[in-house]
Amino acid sequence: MPTEVAPTDSEQSTRETIARAVALLRAGEIVALPTETVYGLASDALDPAAVEKIFAAKERPHFDPLIVHVPSKTALHEVAEVPEDTAKTVVQLVETFWPGPLTLLLPKRPVVPDIVTSGLPTVAVRQCEHPVFHRILKHFGGPVAAPSANRFGKLSPTSAAQVLEQLDGRLPLVVDGGACARGLESTIVRVRAAAPKPVIEVLRPGPVTEVELKKFGRVEFAGRNAEVEDSAPEAPGMLAVHYAPRTPLRLLSAPSEFVAEPGRRYALLSYRGQEKDGYLGLHPWDSVEVLSPGSGRLAEAGIRLFHLLGRLDRGGYDEIVAEPVPERGIGRAILEKLRKASCGPR
Ligand code: TXA
Ligand code: MG
Repeated sequence: MPTEVAPTDSEQSTRETIARAVALLRAGEIVALPTETVYGLASDALDPAAVEKIFAAKERPHFDPLIVHVPSKTALHEVAEVPEDTAKTVVQLVETFWPGPLTLLLPKRPVVPDIVTSGLPTVAVRQCEHPVFHRILKHFGGPVAAPSANRFGKLSPTSAAQVLEQLDGRLPLVVDGGACARGLESTIVRVRAAAPKPVIEVLRPGPVTEVELKKFGRVEFAGRNAEVEDSAPEAPGMLAVHYAPRTPLRLLSAPSEFVAEPGRRYALLSYRGQEKDGYLGLHPWDSVEVLSPGSGRLAEAGIRLFHLLGRLDRGGYDEIVAEPVPERGIGRAILEKLRKASCGPR
């Protein structure tokens, strides 16, 4: 199937593109859409045959459930139950972070097909902030299921070109909404009633950080579940091999850990690109990419992470060596992606 890339560079082209995307969704097709986090591969969430096409295109195992994106805050209640004992906190989170990169895990309503949730009694829900995505959902009028638009276990795409690299020929349309503003997948949380404060359990770290969530409850991070590989993940995004470039990647925790083997070509993924951090001068790197040139801003590093990993992956190096980033704010999510990438195929 030929894959077309549809522009959104003027109001006219955006309208035409939105109409095409909605028509395809209504016809039970899959469409790649820009979100503020990463590109998503969307279908009608309530049509199991359409959802099946997502799994097929991504080669995603059926035990890995999808996120449901709703057109409005109130539409949350059409797909999920909000238990009374956590309702206050859930409403606060929705009011504060939606539309935006926060996904809530809640008991599902029967209308959501089992294929979406991998048979689990819960559904992951968010309202996306990207203006084009938002308009498509408003016109479509219902929820769409949309995981990241990558092949299973590979790097998440943050541009239309990156979607094509992995999925060209497997879907009719990619809506080009430009580069993603956040560059990392949404934070996934589950709320638990507890005294004296509700617990907000972070199942996948992302752009909404611990500091922001702390105002609404006690924040806990789900343990990393590295041994889960071929069975249903207990927590989302917890499969050991994920976000993996083809090139082996090694995440260092200190410069002294690096020992070069003769004859191998190494590329460095640097955080700030500064000599004083001790990594640049360690080795005559075959290539260096810098996540946040000069300033060391974690938000910038997050936006550029998948883009630069993709570029290094295409460079044909024997190994990508990654500097650590500070484990605070969105740095937690960046480190998690790098740790998972470092479990990738050898
Ligand atoms: O930012 C995002 O969240 C992007 C954009 C496209 O919205 N989507 C995304 O979807 O990252 P995906 O499928 O790549 O990651 C969703 C994660 C998966 O790790 C899946 O296992 C988990 O959420 N998940 C979904 N529903 C779940 C459920 N009911 N219980 C446990 N985990 C769930
Ligand atoms: Mg994904």
